[in-house]
Amino acid sequence: MASSLSETARALVAPGKGILAADESSGTIKKRFDSIGCDSTEDRRRAYREMLFTAKGAADAVSGVILFDETIRQQASDGRTLVKVLEESGVIPGIKVDKGTTPLAKSPRELVTDGLDGLRARLVEYRELGARFAKWRAVIDIADGIPTQYCIDVNAHALARYAALCQDEGIVPIVEPEVLMDGSHSIEECSRVTTDTLHTVFNELIAQRVELEGMLLKPNMVIPGKKFSGGKATPAQVADATIACFREVVPAAVPGIVFLSGGQGDEEATANLDAINKLGPHAWQVSFSYGRALQAAALNAWKGADANADAGRKAFLHRARMNGLAREGNWTADAEKSAS
Ligand code: 13P
Repeated sequence: MASSLSETARALVAPGKGILAADESSGTIKKRFDSIGCDSTEDRRRAYREMLFTAKGAADAVSGVILFDETIRQQASDGRTLVKVLEESGVIPGIKVDKGTTPLAKSPRELVTDGLDGLRARLVEYRELGARFAKWRAVIDIADGIPTQYCIDVNAHALARYAALCQDEGIVPIVEPEVLMDGSHSIEECSRVTTDTLHTVFNELIAQRVELEGMLLKPNMVIPGKKFSGGKATPAQVADATIACFREVVPAAVPGIVFLSGGQGDEEATANLDAINKLGPHAWQVSFSYGRALQAAALNAWKGADANADAGRKAFLHRARMNGLAREGNWTADAEKSAS
């Protein structure tokens, strides 16, 4: 039965489109602004997000934008709310609702995500502010002796509680269990941990009655750790390992998988997504929900100055278009060059 939840979920993974994650918390956006020598003031954060959201043509490749609590309440320079700016360009507003990670009791090298307390009331407010989908990120790290099944279990339980609450309040949950790529692990180790994690997450989602057709999964790709001694995997290797893993554990009822970029380079994230889609068609739509891989070039072009807003928009539009092509398996090195 089609519900408005499944309609929204499917609209977020419409052909040629994916999601912009612009929901950096105050700490994370400060780090990004530090890298371009810009003070992280409320006005600069607003100006930066307004620049991204007013890139003409971006809506051809961007179905939705994930906002941070501050941003969903802000206004563009023309007086419209930033939510209105998105809506009027045909982009669906979403909201990050987790409250970040904290050390896990009894296993302090691991993290659990906070934010369930009071969540239903916050969802009601976000819905009134225009959010039609939400995001909650859980983090699973790979190192000596971790992850523990305990860490995977508590994070999966929280993800499912969040997802059920969202659906109760008419908001599509994006369920994000991120296996980090920071370690020195191999692609096989990433595959094993990603499989275990997704298995546990789907068991919890089903146990807590989450309607799979009314959610999206936001996972990591199956990829070696950044410090892996064997170096990088090729896009074809990443695609094979990722699809082999997801076929085992992601039910076909889930309308879409929207990958995070997780510290991959801009073109690397595009090439890997493209290779995954070249193996398709798959049981689910396979698209992107990138933060850094969509924004790094725009941030560097902008440098905190309004005078550079056009250059920032151009850089963002280019990455959005390239990922729109990759989302169909149609990206080429030539397209990358010609469009720049
Ligand atoms: P990255 O693509 O930079 O990993 O960000 C996506 C995201 O929303 C992480 O929660």
